[in-house]
Amino acid sequence: MRDGHDRTIHYLRVSVTDRCNFRCAYCMPPRGVKWLTHDEILTYEELLRLIAVFSREGIRNVRLTGGEPLVRKGFVDFVAAVKRLGTIEDLSLTTNGSLLPKFAPALKAAGLDRVNISLDTVDAAKFAKMTYCGRLEDTLRGVKSALAAGLTPLKLNVVLTAALTAADLAFFIDQVYCYPIAVRFIERMPLGGSASFEAGPDIAAVKRLLEAAGHGRLEPATAKGNGPARYWRLPKSQGTFGFITPISEHFCNACNRLRLTADGRLRPCLLSDLEIDVRTPLRAGASDDELAALFAAAVRAKPDGHSLCRTSGYPGFGRRMSQIGG
Ligand code: GTP
Ligand code: 5AD
Ligand code: SF4
Repeated sequence: MRDGHDRTIHYLRVSVTDRCNFRCAYCMPPRGVKWLTHDEILTYEELLRLIAVFSREGIRNVRLTGGEPLVRKGFVDFVAAVKRLGTIEDLSLTTNGSLLPKFAPALKAAGLDRVNISLDTVDAAKFAKMTYCGRLEDTLRGVKSALAAGLTPLKLNVVLTAALTAADLAFFIDQVYCYPIAVRFIERMPLGGSASFEAGPDIAAVKRLLEAAGHGRLEPATAKGNGPARYWRLPKSQGTFGFITPISEHFCNACNRLRLTADGRLRPCLLSDLEIDVRTPLRAGASDDELAALFAAAVRAKPDGHSLCRTSGYPGFGRRMSQIGG
């Protein structure tokens, strides 16, 4: 389906839960988070019905997000059910990786195509501090199990923070020489709800450091995906580096997506608080056509771009990243 700014919308990010077993500082505060109640969260049956209706309207790519999707009970069966719809060409998952050692083979068997894993530092102490309750070794084992299960092409998401060190970059360079993975550096967006946060290096600095430590110039590259990253590769590396720059160089003109929050709101733009409630009509017995009309309304409501590009200072956001799904 085309939106009002001549962009084709074929990608849906579906958040299955606002809960997480980590508390990444840029995503949610360590304490005092008010979770959605059981009744507020869409059931898997409801999610499945919406995905089926929206795929009739042109959705071909679905990314499952959270919070952390793997903490929701029954998630693997849900993946299998989405796959059985037969309409989704690329079914992917964004995860913190910690539960992949347990679930990766079952996810692959259920039909999941690929995973993106958050990994901001490989310093165990900094990782523990940054995630508040995460263990680096769990996520590293998660990366290994995803590769072994064939949930590929695999991507690592590195949000740029002050925790990132030269040793991290050396690790990531090693990874792209050893494996056909993509390591993406992401500018932090102001949706974490934790205001005080030490800024990390900017993208230009990371590129310079990668070139200095990786013995060569970055060359333009491509990687499978539907997202906003721009890709580069070091000479003869198997894998690539991606840069996601919502702040310094936004990509709104190529936007292809809508979001469905765990509590059943269609969110046309990550960086705008406008949302359309689909849960109420869904539970009141809306027909497929009525749900499709809500999808069309959300597509029409997509702004041409986000307001961070236009204003100095950040507008307030009503929802944290963990409540939207990234
Ligand atoms: P693929 O490229 O298909 O692998 O996925 P992706 O990069 O779109 O998904 P992922 O969940 O790994 O997100 C990576 C980063 O991009 C996260 O920090 C997201 O918040 C950010 N991101 C994803 N979509 C958008 C978007 O539409 N707008 C903005 N500003 N950021 C986005
Ligand atoms: N800014 C940028 N990226 C973020 N993510 C979570 N919070 C933020 C933020 N404030 C990333 C996570 C995950 C993806 C869904 O979004 O690292 O990989
Ligand atoms: Fe699309 Fe909004 Fe993201 Fe821009 S900020 S790419 S318009 S979702």
